[in-house]
Amino acid sequence: MSFDLCARGNPVAGEEKAAICIECHGIDGETEDPIVPKLNGQYEEFLFEQVMQYITGTRFDTVMGKVVNKVKPSAEDIADIAAYYSKLPMMSGNGVLTDAGKRGKDLFFRRQCNFCHNDHDDSLKIYIRKTARVGGQNKEYLYKSLKDIQEGIRKADNYNLMERILRSMTDDEIDDVSEFISIL
Ligand code: HEC
Ligand code: HEC
Repeated sequence: MSFDLCARGNPVAGEEKAAICIECHGIDGETEDPIVPKLNGQYEEFLFEQVMQYITGTRFDTVMGKVVNKVKPSAEDIADIAAYYSKLPMMSGNGVLTDAGKRGKDLFFRRQCNFCHNDHDDSLKIYIRKTARVGGQNKEYLYKSLKDIQEGIRKADNYNLMERILRSMTDDEIDDVSEFISIL
């Protein structure tokens, strides 16, 4: 289940295998359903790892749990699908900075989210291992993910730094930061 295998993913085979995913994640990984994450341009290793986590139960979600139970993708299938989605044009938001978005921007940098998530400058990413690309992601999904991580339902980085940062943030602040990230 290593990233070495992930690195051998075949995007052409992945496109065919992703037929089952399109129903919810959209034809180009750009889903219209705000609670479903966009997958286009997401980091390959992250995609691979997340599907593995749904299979092992490390990450719990009723919908994705049912999907992997039904489809039973092999590690090779997942690597191929991850290769396919990661090479699609990168997800992006509408770029409109609302008042909530402005507050969220301030929080994003003040709370040092950019320490691990810098979608536009990979050289700043000190975590060589799979942080998630978040810029342009659906807002509702971002909010849900942040609440899951804040409440310890979902584990993020190995040192629980993200959980610790989120623990001292209010729901309104999490909403603002989700707004900012979603427009990028
Ligand atoms: C029935 C709808 C549905 C189908 C079909 C589906 N997904 Fe999902 N997927 C979801 C939902 C909803 C979530 C958000 C779950 C959560 O909050 O943890 C999700 C989350 C994910 C994530 C996590 C992304 C992130 O940013 O953290 C990945 C990766 C993923 N799905 C891959 C796939 C793949 C690969 C397939 C096809 C084999 C697939 N999904 C099929 C609904 C679906
Ligand atoms: C110490 C590094 C670190 C910091 C600081 C950090 N994150 Fe994360 N974040 C991660 C990692 C690693 C993941 C991937 C978690 C996983 O594998 O499930 C993640 C996942 C996420 C996700 C889920 C993405 C998805 O597609 O499922 C969101 C949203 C997010 N971070 C936003 C933030 C925000 C907002 C902040 C600041 C309040 C923040 N992060 C601070 C490391 C960090």
